[in-house]
Amino acid sequence: MTKTESAYKKRADGRKFDELRPVIAKVGVVPSADGSAMYQSGKTRALAVVRGPRLLHPKHLENPEKGILRVTYQMMSFSVWDRIKPGNSRRGQEIGKVSEWALNEIVDLDAFPNSVVDVIIQIPQADAGTRVAGLNAAAMALAQAGVPMREMLSAVAVGKMDRTLVVDVDKEEEDFEDGEGATDIPIGITSRTKKIALLQLDGKISIPELRESISMAKKACEKINEVQMKALKEPGKEIKG
Ligand code: CDP
Repeated sequence: MTKTESAYKKRADGRKFDELRPVIAKVGVVPSADGSAMYQSGKTRALAVVRGPRLLHPKHLENPEKGILRVTYQMMSFSVWDRIKPGNSRRGQEIGKVSEWALNEIVDLDAFPNSVVDVIIQIPQADAGTRVAGLNAAAMALAQAGVPMREMLSAVAVGKMDRTLVVDVDKEEEDFEDGEGATDIPIGITSRTKKIALLQLDGKISIPELRESISMAKKACEKINEVQMKALKEPGKEIKG
């Protein structure tokens, strides 16, 4: 089989294929919360607030064996050029759910039966990769809140632009249409056991390409984890990566 050349040869913003957008992380952005954090990648910014553990209402959701996580995700109306309709959306519910599954891989709520930890993720500015930015902020906010955690979580979206794999796609890249078009693969990796806590796939990809995407995500997540850990050591300070 002859390998056809990819139509995506250079990134629009000049980044290397494995290079993250400029990162800013800050812990402690909402003083009244039990934990809070901001994670920014390029023009995408996520805020996460943690409340709890506290007693759960409505009561029928209680689990007498352990505490539960409840994650909500919302893009703010002014986060993109076309105003987002406020309130619940199917997309928001899906992202809240997958974020909850991913964060459940790292928290340990065995000591908190009948309780809930609420994680509220808000996106004030979106330029693709908001669910992964939300997860990076949420993991920091949970750690600051002192919620028992087995390890940390970092996440990044790998993109396949025609046949080229790139790390941390922005919106312009996500809209690439030539050749095989753009495939978006948000991936979350736990810090110690390197488990895949999130993997979604929107598009077309071969198994070797998917393996390569995961290994690119693992390397990128190590860099993100370093920034998260620095931010956790210095609450209130903007840490750049
Ligand atoms: O943000 P993420 O990549 O996790 O999720 P997506 O559903 O693939 O959305 C990609 C991007 O599309 C978002 O980050 C926004 O920049 C944009 N978007 C939008 O402009 N309007 C929406 N209603 C939803 C997403």
